[in-house]
Amino acid sequence: MGMDPYSELAEHARRGQWRLPDLPWDEPVKFAGSTRRERLLCKFDLLDASEALYHFKLGARRRMGELYLRAWTEHDQLTECLEWLDTDELRQLKALRRLQKALFAAGQDGPDGKRRASPERMWSVSKCPRGMPMDVESLALRLLVDEAVTHNLFRSMARQSHVPLARAVFNVCARDDERHGQLMKAMLGEGLAKANPVRVVALQGVVIAYVARLQNAFRPYFRSYASVTGTTTENVASELFRAISASVGDLGPAWVRYPTARIVHSADRSPWMLWLLR
Ligand SMILES: [Fe+2]
Repeated sequence: MGMDPYSELAEHARRGQWRLPDLPWDEPVKFAGSTRRERLLCKFDLLDASEALYHFKLGARRRMGELYLRAWTEHDQLTECLEWLDTDELRQLKALRRLQKALFAAGQDGPDGKRRASPERMWSVSKCPRGMPMDVESLALRLLVDEAVTHNLFRSMARQSHVPLARAVFNVCARDDERHGQLMKAMLGEGLAKANPVRVVALQGVVIAYVARLQNAFRPYFRSYASVTGTTTENVASELFRAISASVGDLGPAWVRYPTARIVHSADRSPWMLWLLR
């Protein structure tokens, strides 16, 4: 056994803990815009954006639980990392739900906003289609993509949103998800180094199929993310690609040696991949 990356990751997680009550819940929520219509649009975009992430994360718990079970060993530090992952994600769900309630209650001067989209779409991303592999590496790869996506969205909204409470919530969630991405990479490292070429290419196929499903689920919300971050929907999509490809393009020599890695890695520049995913 070489050096143990998990003790360090567990220590990071321990130090990175935050408490729900410490967020600025009492700060009055004011939406950006000079007219009532603009403020309402701002409110609903922010609500949609956080609701989509909430439901996506809620669904992802299914896969996380599966990974927890399959990766469980006597290895104390790895188990501690998985416990922190679970703790963090549950706390994020609580924070996102409370944020939605605060946003919804604020600026109640418009039409009744109970036009919520069905959450099924976001939950079903984590449903493993029949025949798809459910081993530790395949699960960790999908979770790595999840963390890259949520980290990217949280971070850009934390930087650009006009609502301080939303910025505060997104900021702590982004920090959690950055750590979670590192944990997934650590869990993938050893398995990928030992994998034979056929296995590596199959795992890359898992990533490509998963990215397509994920993009498809998030697509209706790109407009909301674009509005919250003051950019275009095109930009939101390319930033997501870049975040995913930076995450999965960095999984060591065994992974990068094969051509599929280059397809994933250059997804945001490859015309057929763009056609497939958009
Ligand atoms: Fe996470």
